[in-house]
Amino acid sequence: MNFTVTIRRCLVGMFLCLLGWGLITCLGNLAPDAKGDANRYAAAYRAFKEGKCKSCHPAIWREWENSMHAQAWVDEIYQEAAKQISDRETSCDPCHAPEPILVTGIGKMPKLRSIQRETGVSCLVCHMDAEGAMHGPKASAETYFHANVTDAAYTAPTTLCSTCHGQPSIPEHDQVSSFQRSSFATEKKSCATCHMPSVKRLQSTASYESIKGRKHTWRGSRSVAQLKRAARLQLEYATGKVSVTLQSRTGHILPGGTLRTIVLEITQLAPDGTARQKKQIAISAKEKNRLQPAENRTYVFDVERGDTIKARLRYQLTPKTPEPSWILMAEATHIVP
Ligand code: HEC
Ligand code: HEC
Ligand code: HEC
Ligand code: HEC
Ligand code: HEC
Repeated sequence: MNFTVTIRRCLVGMFLCLLGWGLITCLGNLAPDAKGDANRYAAAYRAFKEGKCKSCHPAIWREWENSMHAQAWVDEIYQEAAKQISDRETSCDPCHAPEPILVTGIGKMPKLRSIQRETGVSCLVCHMDAEGAMHGPKASAETYFHANVTDAAYTAPTTLCSTCHGQPSIPEHDQVSSFQRSSFATEKKSCATCHMPSVKRLQSTASYESIKGRKHTWRGSRSVAQLKRAARLQLEYATGKVSVTLQSRTGHILPGGTLRTIVLEITQLAPDGTARQKKQIAISAKEKNRLQPAENRTYVFDVERGDTIKARLRYQLTPKTPEPSWILMAEATHIVP
């Protein structure tokens, strides 16, 4: 008798115990798992460093690795300039080694991160939220490794880009506001149209099908192909004068950066080949004469019959870049009839 009572008490005890345990785990799942989120967030930084993003996304990784976003912190031109600024940690570094912008807010001034600064504008900066999930366009596969969140901010990403390329307080690095005023914006183009060309591919080694994505190359002024698309040069003759017309085909103010200079060079040769004159016109933020999107600008020169007019447009990366290293963007020649 005592024996059965003990067994019965024991069974009731076990039942209550299980119920309690069940309740605790149940409540635990209902409450926001702040510690779990923080762990996933920290785990993504570790995974990035250990090469896990690279191993599942090899194609995107290679593109990013060769882009200026990967260099944003280690870039010598940047470090040289930032060295001169006494409060660089508040006025410069926040965009060159930022916390993830989904955490600090798309469009808001980024914050300087304390770890992995050498990775500049990394995958995590553009894609990761505070829970460690990856936001992007619609995915075609799932992974145990991170949550995928479909987010409209990535499909036409101009606002995303404006977080660093269009802060109103930093006009030196603003390509967005001139773009917004251009016909490109009204034609529903975005920064990705020219800087992240469309590509169809497997987006990860765990994907089953190729879907449309965009190249993570962000070619800018270090790309000869990009510079050749930037502007058109035309020469026209009318009664004793040659007009040289420069037409911008860039989606924003040209040159896009304040360190850059475009040099228009006009050479006038007499029929025997001797140079009558050579003129160089600098177009830059310093000269306050950058071209607006789609702007046509004409320079007119007096010429004589039989003269040859040569025009060249070249790109100077920084004020220190020597003339032999300027990049040819366009050239044109006209012989005066
Ligand atoms: C709002 C974000 C932001 C801040 C703040 C910022 N930068 Fe930048 N920086 C950028 C972006 C975006 C680019 C690339 C586009 C461009 O050149 O305009 C860039 C490019 C540069 C470049 C050109 C690098 C190259 O290789 O050509 C230099 C130099 C530079 N920044 C220096 C600085 C300095 C110095 C400060 C502080 C006084 C600073 N930046 C503050 C966003 C920022
Ligand atoms: C185990 C493999 C694996 C690892 C590791 C991995 N991913 Fe992914 N990731 C995937 C798969 C699968 C997809 C969905 C691909 C598709 O749609 O075809 C994806 C999608 C994404 C997306 C797009 C999300 C969306 O909804 O559009 C981003 C951004 C991303 N990953 C970033 C990262 C980053 C950053 C890391 C490193 C912290 C990483 N991934 C590590 C497998 C992985
Ligand atoms: C978190 C800040 C940040 C965001 C967001 C960002 N960029 Fe950048 N971007 C930079 C910085 C900083 C540099 C300059 C790196 C350097 O030269 O040191 C840069 C460089 C570039 C360059 C290359 C400039 C050159 O000199 O060749 C291009 C092109 C570019 N970004 C386009 C984009 C586009 C398009 C987007 C949106 C999809 C975007 N960026 C989003 C910070 C950002
Ligand atoms: C400067 C911001 C930026 C950085 C840095 C960045 N991405 Fe993206 N990523 C984007 C944008 C914008 C898209 C949306 C492109 C589109 O419309 O398909 C995207 C799309 C994706 C996609 C979906 C597939 C595709 O090609 O569109 C994956 C996966 C992805 N990124 C992974 C990564 C990984 C991995 C890294 C680091 C190696 C990285 N991204 C770095 C902005 C960024
Ligand atoms: C119609 C095509 C087109 C569109 C749209 C476009 N760009 Fe560009 N971008 C170019 C070309 C061409 C260059 C090279 C000439 C130059 O330096 O401005 C360039 C250069 C750049 C550079 C490098 C500037 C430097 O100093 O090295 C950055 C940064 C940049 N673009 C960012 C953006 C951002 C952000 C957007 C969206 C607001 C955007 N671009 C939209 C064509 C485009």
